[in-house]
Amino acid sequence: MDSLIINGGKKLIGDIPISGSKNACLPMMIASLMTDEKVTLKNVPLLSDVKTLISILESIGTNAVYINKNLSLHTKEIINHRASYDLVKKMRASFWVLAPLLAKSGYAEVSLPGGCAIGTRPINLYLKILKEMNINYTINNGYVVAKREGPIKGINFKLEKKSVGCTHFFLMLASLANGTSKLSNASCEPEVIHLGSLLIKMGAKIKGLGSKKIIIEGVEKLNSITEIIPSDRIETGTFAIAVSATGGKIKLENTNYEENKLLFNILEKTGSIINKSKNSISIEKTHNRINPANIKTSAYPGFPTDLQAQIMALMTISNGKSEIKENIFENRFMHVQELVRMGANIKLDKDRAIIKGVKQLNGADVMATDLRASASLIIAGLVAKGITKISRIYHLDRGFYNLDNKLNNCGASIKRISE
Ligand code: UD1
Repeated sequence: MDSLIINGGKKLIGDIPISGSKNACLPMMIASLMTDEKVTLKNVPLLSDVKTLISILESIGTNAVYINKNLSLHTKEIINHRASYDLVKKMRASFWVLAPLLAKSGYAEVSLPGGCAIGTRPINLYLKILKEMNINYTINNGYVVAKREGPIKGINFKLEKKSVGCTHFFLMLASLANGTSKLSNASCEPEVIHLGSLLIKMGAKIKGLGSKKIIIEGVEKLNSITEIIPSDRIETGTFAIAVSATGGKIKLENTNYEENKLLFNILEKTGSIINKSKNSISIEKTHNRINPANIKTSAYPGFPTDLQAQIMALMTISNGKSEIKENIFENRFMHVQELVRMGANIKLDKDRAIIKGVKQLNGADVMATDLRASASLIIAGLVAKGITKISRIYHLDRGFYNLDNKLNNCGASIKRISE
């Protein structure tokens, strides 16, 4: 198992190319199952989540070829309708293959994803969509076994809670349904727009992407497409927070300002200078003072839960008291105890973390508990005095492409060791 050894206290200075977005790439890969023609995705980050999904798609019958960031996926025929627990448990998003399997071939057995470190993560809303669309299902030995007799029924549906995954799921099913579907209280995250735009280019008829109401007119068939995976807004945000903590200046290349507008506003208030140009953003921190901030996570365009752990690392060394409220996942504070081990002063009160800034974090042995928590500990390690060892770094490799090397290219001292 790999660990990272960070020698903290160095400023970050340099340019960082931002990779393709994991959370955009995964549903776009899954959508390739909706056509029997070839789908080519460019700028694909070869993360362990992407590799896991390639294995799932291959087990279903996809011919997958990855060369130099280009991934071609061609599923002439679905040969296996089952996505097994061994693979789905590694990554929840793989549960979404249920939608194209049902839409294309009418039958699917997909393992329940189960809970994870950040909360229970139920699938009740997915099951409601299936029921409304006239798709029969049972839950058998930990699998959702679903079958449709006849075409999928186009429906009007209101999500009782905003869910990115359910919005992806609905878009895929409704695109090949009989008739028109309307989804109310849809998620507006950029990844929904990216998936929807891909489907439109494949021949789907979708209106209202990026708004709370999406209207989808079902079509009979979708076609081949070549598409570029857009930049990763969470990776962008993570580096922006890192340099705001360490000081220095970095230029983030091939990325998008608008998708992280709220974060950049917050970082300006904490004391960083942000400059944007067409495809790049520079973040500069020239002094030691970090102003505290109060943050609530919420659905887009609110503050992303996927940056909550990272911004908390910055707040641990602010000049005052900050409060972070986590509104999306009920147990997404696993990083708190690890930050406390490094000298942070954080008190938890249900879904709120109260952080009193300290002058200095100190290096310690800590453990990554989930994907975004690992990035938080790296930021803490970069600013801490002395050596920080972060174990269980496989969480990081699920969703950040080459993060340690990109930071080292900007002056950080991070070594990866295998034990
Ligand atoms: C996606 C992202 C994840 C991000 C999250 C919220 C991917 C691969 N993952 O996850 O990185 O943190 O959006 O922005 O894109 N819920 C229910 N019932 C359901 C489904 C969801 O109660 O049937 C709840 C969840 O427990 C959570 C909330 O809805 O409290 C939002 O979760 P959701 O948007 O569905 O997250 P994911 O799509 O799984």
